[in-house]
Amino acid sequence: MSVAYDRLLGLVADERCVILDGGVATELQRLRPLRGEPGPDPELWGTWALTRSPDAVREVHARYVAAGCDVISTDTWSILSAPEPEVAQVGVRLAREAVAGGDTAVAFAISEEVGSPERARALDRVLKAIADEPPDLLLLETMTLVREPETFEGVERLLATGVPVWLSFRRCRHGVCGVYGEHWGPPEGDEFGRAARRFEELGVGALLINCLPVEHVPGMLSWLGDFTGLPLGVYPNLGHLAGPLWRFDDETGPEEYAGLARAWRAEGAQIVGGCCGTTPEHIHSAAQALERTKPGRERPEPAPREPAETAPARAWEDERGRPLFPLPFPKLEIDEGVFVPTQGSYLVWKHLFRTGIGEGERCVDVGCGSGILAIQLALNGAESVHAIDVDPRAVATTLANAERNGVTGRITGETADLFDWKPDRSFDVVVASLYQLPVDPFVEPSGHRPLDYWGRTLLDHFLRLLPDLLAPAGSAYVMQLSIIGQAETERRLAAAGLVARVADFSFFPFGPLFESSREQIERVEELSDAYHVAVGGEDVMVAYLLEVTHR
Ligand SMILES: C[S@@+](CC[C@H](N)C(=O)[O-])C[C@H]1O[C@@H](n2cnc3c(N)ncnc32)[C@H](O)[C@@H]1O
Repeated sequence: MSVAYDRLLGLVADERCVILDGGVATELQRLRPLRGEPGPDPELWGTWALTRSPDAVREVHARYVAAGCDVISTDTWSILSAPEPEVAQVGVRLAREAVAGGDTAVAFAISEEVGSPERARALDRVLKAIADEPPDLLLLETMTLVREPETFEGVERLLATGVPVWLSFRRCRHGVCGVYGEHWGPPEGDEFGRAARRFEELGVGALLINCLPVEHVPGMLSWLGDFTGLPLGVYPNLGHLAGPLWRFDDETGPEEYAGLARAWRAEGAQIVGGCCGTTPEHIHSAAQALERTKPGRERPEPAPREPAETAPARAWEDERGRPLFPLPFPKLEIDEGVFVPTQGSYLVWKHLFRTGIGEGERCVDVGCGSGILAIQLALNGAESVHAIDVDPRAVATTLANAERNGVTGRITGETADLFDWKPDRSFDVVVASLYQLPVDPFVEPSGHRPLDYWGRTLLDHFLRLLPDLLAPAGSAYVMQLSIIGQAETERRLAAAGLVARVADFSFFPFGPLFESSREQIERVEELSDAYHVAVGGEDVMVAYLLEVTHR
């Protein structure tokens, strides 16, 4: 054990507060503007500063030594992810140079979890690199979850070096606490408290919390004290990360920070410092405020886990007062080989759900697939819904799904090929979301089906049937993709005495099926008004929902 570490033990034994440094990387960000130099260099975050700007790192350490710190920590944030973990040696050396033979201890900071095999390998390289010029202690900080056995194995790895080990967790009374005060996971009872006891048994030298907002500190140390006799410490953040740089907290100045530090001390803190966004001025002020204090035994209430559990949760509802969370989406099971709904299906479904179309009406779903649309019409209160599909498995799936959704009595099914189908009646509501895939005749030249060069064959045939299928005052809801063009649809609608308006639209990804027809899609786009949109190298088409009526 080094003389400097021995001194820390003495301070704790004498009930004097050990003063840890404040933010190092955030201080590097502040340093250049402080000196009147050009703005901060975001690259100095992490271990880059050790090689790019060693003088600045030394200067930040020296400022903390001058502020009255008993311990300063190396600028080795993310060392285990650094391209050259051996740079650790530079980290220790710069801190030692700043101490300049004084009695300030140097903590080697490792700010990452050490559980994974990669991290364990990086850790071995780091520990080897600093073996010849060891720090006074190892500070494994900003840890989050306690995992069995990884966390304990990682800690044992550090303890095996013989250098004293302090652990620091980003935790408050509500569990792991992120930099913005967000919590991970559910409440965990005393799991962390029991882990604290185990750390003590393993031989860890102190337990701290760090890198969390100051509002989350109260109540944590007094609670930890119920589980462990280890010296306890705290070094929270001021401000938060905004983009690549740290946004400093302008409201908590050195004096206010000293006030907070007094409260932590009253709760039992034996080690006090600061993490990101705290400065030598904050630490100096806290050090002075804590000089002749003893650790107290207060037990403040922790801030409530956000959001405050006051008002009962308000339901998310639509304009008609129906719940939207969870969405009352029909229960669908889909037999092997039956069409699985896509964005086109969801576009039409959403419109049917939102508008409640079909109530008290006679409806037909042409190409029903899983029955997603037929079932929604029935759920909307349709008098009857006739569902047809060329694939008998789709009809069977639709009828089974009708049963799952309690609308069996209103849905009838028919296996029929649209090209042969002769509807014997008309309907008030017609829905159709049909295949629209342009096919290259050179790729698929055979088969007795009409070759779908334009991807419109099924839709066009449907439009031909529509004047008879649609009751005089009825409406049809038809999904059409942008890759088959508008002009031809309009021409056919006009010829059939029909008129369309766009009731809604959404985006439809290419996916593997459309990707396989890409050349033909491009050909059709060249030869007509068909189009798709390219966004950041990704192709996406527009799916239109047309509401078609008689003229
Ligand atoms: C794109 S899927 C849509 C299914 C469902 N309406 C949806 O929105 O998820 C088209 C459906 O039309 C059916 N189909 C294809 N050709 C057909 C034809 N000639 N006659 C009747 N149905 C056909 C398919 O079996 C498939 O279930």
